[in-house]
Amino acid sequence: MKDFPKVLFERLEIPNIHKISVFQEHGGYQMAKRALQMAPEEVTKIVTDSGLRGRGGAGFPTGMKWSFVPKDASKIKYLLCNGDESEPGTFKDRILMEKMPHLLLEGMIIAAHAIDCHRAYIYIRGEFTESIAALEKAIEDCHTENILGKNIFGTKFNLEIHVFKGAGAYICGEETGLISSLEGTKGWPKVKPPFPAIAGFNRLPSIVNNVETLAAVPWILKNGAQAYRKFGTEKSPGTKLFCLSGPVKNPGTYELPCGFPLKDLIFDIGGGLLDDLNLKAVIPGGASAKILTAEEALKTTLCYEGCQTMGTMLGSGGVIVIPHTQCMVDLLHVVSYFFKDESCGQCTPCREGTGWMHKIVDSILHQRGRPEDVQLLLDISENIQGGRTICALADAAAWPVESYVKKFKQEFVDHIEKKACNLYKYSASL
Ligand SMILES: Cc1cc2nc3c(=O)[nH]c(=O)nc-3n(C[C@H](O)[C@H](O)[C@H](O)COP(=O)(O)O)c2cc1C
Ligand code: SF4
Repeated sequence: MKDFPKVLFERLEIPNIHKISVFQEHGGYQMAKRALQMAPEEVTKIVTDSGLRGRGGAGFPTGMKWSFVPKDASKIKYLLCNGDESEPGTFKDRILMEKMPHLLLEGMIIAAHAIDCHRAYIYIRGEFTESIAALEKAIEDCHTENILGKNIFGTKFNLEIHVFKGAGAYICGEETGLISSLEGTKGWPKVKPPFPAIAGFNRLPSIVNNVETLAAVPWILKNGAQAYRKFGTEKSPGTKLFCLSGPVKNPGTYELPCGFPLKDLIFDIGGGLLDDLNLKAVIPGGASAKILTAEEALKTTLCYEGCQTMGTMLGSGGVIVIPHTQCMVDLLHVVSYFFKDESCGQCTPCREGTGWMHKIVDSILHQRGRPEDVQLLLDISENIQGGRTICALADAAAWPVESYVKKFKQEFVDHIEKKACNLYKYSASL
């Protein structure tokens, strides 16, 4: 396989790189040390100039987000690292947390300095026991080496980082749901504005950043903004982690420059589909992204604007390959159940709409569908999306419904009219 530039996985293959001594032998924490000698604005400017965009899904420019934090020195500010990794089809942050915990901590020290934060949290889903153990050990070792705690590296800068275990709810990956959970209440999202940068954790200025976003920061500081911009595209600079799943020969997490052709990820890096399966569709950015037909997928580039051009989103980089044997009604049944189950229930359109959509898909799948159900699904999905709810889970639930039904309409119609699935013969579960 061709060698692609590495930012996040540059040192991944070094044996025992999760250990502080090995990480330090390979340049670890040098950038945190350097950052503490720089003015916070200077650090933020380098990150802004690099064009780094948040890797949690929305792609918001990281440096710009940091610059929103009030400069008032008397105010406590928090850095909250989002390690919830709740988007189905995504398994990249756990690799960084488990194998490169010190890279994440180094990125966090740099970010904390940039926003004048002295207490940070890493929110990790409870099921990620290995990520939790790796980070707790890494934090402990940093204290021993005076890399965390008081007067770190002999400077006046103090920083404590704590690991917080979530209970495995999708909604706790949403930044304000995460904040509620961290505050000790139900993981319910909050109305924005105010945005977390102004009033976040405990209503104090807080920056929420994804694990992958923060882990890219040391490299950017070391090599400079322009070096980072050499990879990727103008609007999506740098590299990104892509999680390739589904029936492909080489599933896995790959670091690739943004703008990489989706076709090459599936057929070159992924080795193509298993056995004699054909490509039917691709979900490019985790379960909430709109699905692409095989024809569309072959023309898609993996960057924010490339996915947008195709009417979908890069999201978390969870690329799910769908073979020709997959019934789309069956697939939507699973996906719509997930969103119904994970809706926190605060907003009527989301609470009622997700359940209603799943109920309709369930009846279509189980031969109780009515001809009007296809249009009804489209109407409901249209009515719950578009910023009518507190958070974007409603949109995330609506997009799969809208795109599967529009792009694979005949399968839904056939299920209703023929009361059978054309793909029945392939289904292992029947
Ligand atoms: C329903 C929902 C679930 C989300 N789950 C995650 C998640 O698991 N991890 C994550 O980093 N961002 C998640 N996000 C995005 C966060 O709200 C937020 O935008 C992100 O953590 C910001 O970090 P970034 O700027 O570095 O991307 C989710 C958003 C929504 C609407
Ligand atoms: S949109 Fe859904 S998940 Fe988000 S706050 Fe409203 S009910 Fe909860």
